[in-house]
Amino acid sequence: MMNNKISTDIEKAVSILKAGGLVAIPTETVYGLAADALNPEAVKKIFAAKGRPADHPLIVHLNDASQIEDWAIDVPAEAYRLFDAFWPGPLTVICKKAPKINDIVTGGQDTIGLRVPAHPIAQALLTAFGGGLAAPSANKFGRISPTTAEHVFAEVGNEVDLILEGGRAEVGIESTIVDFSTKDTRILRPGMISSHAISRILGYEIPIIGKQISTPRVSGSLASHYAPRTPAELIDILDLPTRIADLSQQGKKLVIISHLAIANTGSQISINLPNNPLDYAYEIYAALREADNLKADRILITKVPEEWQAILDRLNRATY
Ligand code: TXA
Ligand code: MG
Repeated sequence: MMNNKISTDIEKAVSILKAGGLVAIPTETVYGLAADALNPEAVKKIFAAKGRPADHPLIVHLNDASQIEDWAIDVPAEAYRLFDAFWPGPLTVICKKAPKINDIVTGGQDTIGLRVPAHPIAQALLTAFGGGLAAPSANKFGRISPTTAEHVFAEVGNEVDLILEGGRAEVGIESTIVDFSTKDTRILRPGMISSHAISRILGYEIPIIGKQISTPRVSGSLASHYAPRTPAELIDILDLPTRIADLSQQGKKLVIISHLAIANTGSQISINLPNNPLDYAYEIYAALREADNLKADRILITKVPEEWQAILDRLNRATY
């Protein structure tokens, strides 16, 4: 690797973290920007590096569920059923925070987000570090989450001390967030662990309420998030030909992103994505970055099926 910030050295990452530095880490969902969750000065650096408002809480990553009670209190029995079913994996739970947890991590809230990632390098790092790592996605606030070490470098290369190389993130979009901190258990952010899969384990239908949240506290629920710099539209495939014709007539350079075969007319560039949610999720953020780098005037993304709930959620936020 030519870039000397990108490394596979886990011991080096641990010593940076212990010294209060920032290390970008691979996870199976997207890359995270990690700091020692018990070191407030280190955690502050995360907010500065991302340009993230201080009232947006961070997820704390642990190497297994046995540490949960160090970080959270009143963890309901049904949360443990989800840990058994989905951890390690792309699931985050929100619970009441343990009193000793610093407000900086939780954005001043009395709840905490916890996740046990499955990525082998994240696991090895957490085990070697021996504690919790606060880590949001390793992108600038509001931008597309990174799914490769190179994406991380492009986002926060100057702000991190080290980027741990872990290959391409397998899932490709952020974890499902389930909120157990109130009586009405709900999904705050859909992910590739679907509401159906969670409902099956819980034994009741769990609602997704992320979209209705108007407070900025769950940044992933802000209307505009995960967004490319180029204006992007989400559009029905049936409306695409007219939209292309209109915009082309105005001399606009277009990039089309679609899971359906689009005929290339020469006036636009098409990025074709797989026609199934698993592979689509794996590729979508890289495709949005690629589309951005093409410096087009407009990105047109064709609508995906409603059943692709987590992907549709991200596309809605990436577009206007
Ligand atoms: O897959 C993921 O979850 C990735 C990887 C790195 O683990 N992390 C991630 O973190 O997406 P971040 O900070 O970009 O998004 C986490 C979301 C934010 O919208 C945050 O507001 C919300 O989780 N969150 C964290 N703690 C919370 C809490 N106590 N209450 C409500 N929302 C919370
Ligand atoms: Mg994020």
